Amino acid sequence: MSIETTLGKVLLVGAGPGPVDLMTVRAFRAVESAQALLYDALCSEEAIALAPPGCVRTQTGKRAGKPSMKQDEINRLMLRLARRGLNVVRLKGGDPSIFGRVGEEAAFLNRFGVETEIVPGVTAACAAAAQFGFPLTHRGNARRVVFTTARVEDGAMAGDWRIGGDSEATVAVHMGAEAAPTLAQALMAQGRAASTSVAAVENAGASHARLTETTLANLAVAPLRTEGGPLLIVIGEVAALATTPSSHCADRRVFA
Ligand SMILES: C[S@@+](CC[C@H](N)C(=O)[O-])C[C@H]1O[C@@H](n2cnc3c(N)ncnc32)[C@H](O)[C@@H]1O
Repeated sequence: MSIETTLGKVLLVGAGPGPVDLMTVRAFRAVESAQALLYDALCSEEAIALAPPGCVRTQTGKRAGKPSMKQDEINRLMLRLARRGLNVVRLKGGDPSIFGRVGEEAAFLNRFGVETEIVPGVTAACAAAAQFGFPLTHRGNARRVVFTTARVEDGAMAGDWRIGGDSEATVAVHMGAEAAPTLAQALMAQGRAASTSVAAVENAGASHARLTETTLANLAVAPLRTEGGPLLIVIGEVAALATTPSSHCADRRVFA
């Protein structure tokens, strides 16, 4: 006689930028009742600590060039845990639908009959803008927001950057620290003014967040320095509204 186990459900949850008071109540409760938790490198210890005793915890990503689990391994692990009937929480930094592979993971699980649900989170761009007091859209000069990532291939920006030349677009660049000078050159080549403001925010949302203010012209010649934390680069006139202005490329630590 075979014993059938009901399939567990997998919640694909956004943890926000770090502090637990920036998680949604739904995300908070999901982690609190998880039987298995798979979390990315950008999830804060505070958020992971919400998981109950007895929850199976697996870190799926490591920072600083250390190896991460392959996506295929993560998918198969989620499936195995769901097949054991566990309530699985896949916790990701920010919002899971923004560079969070949520589409791939949901499609994989659904193919095997596992139910999934997405719980949104505060994305890094929103956290950065809120913390430094600037908007992402602004009536009259910022009518669009582009969430993008930047990669250099053969010395030039990979992909189509025409949208970056749009003076009414705020461009939020993820994973773009290394590519920043090439990106700045590409945007100016698309017609974006050299004087366009840039706000680069490291560790957005955290008490040790750091804002670097510069312009496209400066960014093109001066690579951004980081302290090893995640960095989001916001390009557009809204960046000039950051509340703690200073000279170009001045670093600032903000204590919340
Ligand atoms: C794989 S993407 C994940 C984005 C995430 N899902 C979100 O909604 O913010 C990781 C990149 O997002 C940006 N990022 C994520 N969290 C950040 C934070 N707290 N501060 C600054 N940038 C962040 C960085 O560019 C980082 O390399």
